[in-house]
Amino acid sequence: MTERLNVVVGVTGGIAAYKAVGVIRLLVLAGHDVHVVATDAALRFVGRPTLEAISRNPVHTDLYEGVAQVRHVAIGQAADLIVVAPATANTIAKLATGLADDLLGNTILASRAPVVIAPAMHTEMWQNPATVANIATLRSRGVTVVGPGVGQLTGADSGPGRMVEPEEIVSSALAALRTKDLLGKRIVVTAGGTREALDPVRYIGNRSSGKQGVAIALAAAARGADVTLIGANLEVSAPASIHVKHVVSTLELADAVALAAEEADIVIMAAAVADYRPESVAQSKIKKETQGDRLTLELVKNPDILAGLADTRRAGQIIVGFAAETERDADAMIEIGRVKIARKGSDYLLVNRVGWNEGFATDGNSVVMLDRLGDIVMEASGSKSSIADRLLDVLARAR
Ligand code: PMT
Repeated sequence: MTERLNVVVGVTGGIAAYKAVGVIRLLVLAGHDVHVVATDAALRFVGRPTLEAISRNPVHTDLYEGVAQVRHVAIGQAADLIVVAPATANTIAKLATGLADDLLGNTILASRAPVVIAPAMHTEMWQNPATVANIATLRSRGVTVVGPGVGQLTGADSGPGRMVEPEEIVSSALAALRTKDLLGKRIVVTAGGTREALDPVRYIGNRSSGKQGVAIALAAAARGADVTLIGANLEVSAPASIHVKHVVSTLELADAVALAAEEADIVIMAAAVADYRPESVAQSKIKKETQGDRLTLELVKNPDILAGLADTRRAGQIIVGFAAETERDADAMIEIGRVKIARKGSDYLLVNRVGWNEGFATDGNSVVMLDRLGDIVMEASGSKSSIADRLLDVLARAR
């Protein structure tokens, strides 16, 4: 169980304020005590009842409320962490100048807690020299800036300025408090499921969403690692703060991993990789009119990327695999894992159960981590982020 933190979430007036609800919810679900300080403008975008229900605490806005409890400084003094999401260009300018003309400004000035901001604005505002200078000022004072991402903005325009997703904000915010025990380490993480094309419109694939791999990549970056994420058809947003290479098929994944692994200290293969691919890919849509009642697909074996990495690894390089198994019996599943790690030759293997409603695309997971001898070095159940941290605890010690 992680420590229960007193987290202040500052919500300011932008369309992305609706996504602040997701940030608050994730922090509450992680067991933290969340206090929302909203600007007047924020409450024009998202309702106070929503923020109070989700944070499970009263929402504070007014500088002149709670004067007897010296609230304008008390909230900031009590905070372990302050997250401002969304942070508008106006709020960023005020923070850079040290203005305290509202409760959020006072709270931040009165606090010694780490401050994490998630900017959200139109591209022109983000790239305006005034905002660029304000962000540089805040960074130089130790403020963590998460994002912004690139994508569709409120109007018809798109570009840099979009607030990153709540998962990334929360993960980066909690990272601001975390020890950097992977500083200087280069880590490659694969995530998602490969797809093998049959024709221009169809593929053979699997139900991996990429959640587990992305959680590992975010957790590793939070602990100071230089992370490359290789995402195969991710169903979750690719983190804006991490270098991401997108791939589709197993052969593309194999090429990307081989390149990234040359420089890596650790490679973690969380992607669900297809063992076989169609021998040939039809160049136009396969038609039932020409196939009749049966269609036989000829498949050929894909390279085993994990086994290849283990075979060719440099001295000191750590190779980690995941094993996705449907075996119901826990002991039998671990035995399958032992056989698999012996065959693949990786340094570690995390065995997790998958099924119709398990493992794939869920928020939680349950793993048993084996070393090369088949000994259990870690067992964990919980959110995919907590599994990521337990895995990285082992790897940080292993080096
Ligand atoms: O993405 P999520 O929805 O969050 O789901 C997470 C997950 C269940 C996909 C993940 O935790 C997981 O188990 N990933 C590994 C899935 C898998 O391919 O398992 P496997 O037992 O078939 O393969 C064992 C290992 O060999 C894996 O590390 C795999 O990446 C690797 N492999 C497999 C085949 C192949 N041709 N090359 C490989 O490198």
